[in-house]
Amino acid sequence: MAHQARHLQAPNKSQSGDLTALPRSKPRRDGNDAASSISPEAQPFLKWAGGKAQLLSQFEQFFPTPITRYVEPFLGGGAVFFRLKARFPGMRARLRDNNPELVNCYAVVRDRPIELMTALDEHLARFRSEREIYYYLVRSRHHLTEPVERAARMIFLNKTCYNGLWRVNARGEFNVPVGSYKADKVTLYDRANLLAASRELKETDLAVEDFRDTLRQASEGTFVYVDPPYHPISATSNFTSYTREEFGKAEQQEWAAVFAEAARRGALLMQSNSDTPFIRQLYHGFKVETVKARRAVNSNGARRGLISEALILSY
Ligand SMILES: C[S@@+](CC[C@H](N)C(=O)[O-])C[C@H]1O[C@@H](n2cnc3c(N)ncnc32)[C@H](O)[C@@H]1O
Repeated sequence: MAHQARHLQAPNKSQSGDLTALPRSKPRRDGNDAASSISPEAQPFLKWAGGKAQLLSQFEQFFPTPITRYVEPFLGGGAVFFRLKARFPGMRARLRDNNPELVNCYAVVRDRPIELMTALDEHLARFRSEREIYYYLVRSRHHLTEPVERAARMIFLNKTCYNGLWRVNARGEFNVPVGSYKADKVTLYDRANLLAASRELKETDLAVEDFRDTLRQASEGTFVYVDPPYHPISATSNFTSYTREEFGKAEQQEWAAVFAEAARRGALLMQSNSDTPFIRQLYHGFKVETVKARRAVNSNGARRGLISEALILSY
């Protein structure tokens, strides 16, 4: 089935706010790149299940270099994009996810960060006085259409819900309960980071798209980092439903076919997935490295341990 990518247009300049007075970041700790002294390295502005921030230092040795064209078909929190953009500022990026709320959020951070921060300040003030009553009021607003309101709602819910999960019911309505945070301690965003993220996203091509369509034109030399919902390592660890559609064995197999086809065309692909016999067999013939991740090791996420994850490389 062919899916049409829904592109999100950049608005005119007056909506964007003034980004010229951006704060400078600290240089990167590893001092590894020329850009580090002038460019803040933005961090993900959402908490995202399976976020890759903790693995970046282990990924570093596997990235091809330099990277001029980049595609990320399962964007989530975007940790790898932000790292690579800081390292290769001229990199052209195509960022995709099939979660429309998530992609809208990125587009609003890119295009309207000042309005977004104002909306988030209002959410935080009300949450601090009305607590969970306000959380459930915001959660019930499933049908907002204005992009800034939708993005502010997503970030507010993401930072105040249980475990930062984004999970929706069969009607596509977000249904995670409130988290047990102290309302006075909650923060929804870091101003310097949100403005840095906005700047890093400026030239990116963002759209809602299904993975089956994203790699069609990934050409020779394009670097593709792929972080699909993982194949579960056990029957009780099967958190694979970020959106309405499940990501089961059939989707892993379809994805593996798309991966192999893009590799044949000469795209440089690096994929994270669980280190299971099923995944190893699916990518038989590709190089498989391993990294160590700290993850929840049982179904309720209460226990965490070091788990070996697969890194599948086409190059
Ligand atoms: C493991 S997360 C990516 C995490 C990300 N790398 C990070 O560091 O936060 C997987 C993402 O795939 C997206 N996704 C799930 N099914 C998809 C599909 N069929 N097409 C495109 N994206 C999909 C989900 O919305 C989710 O954001």
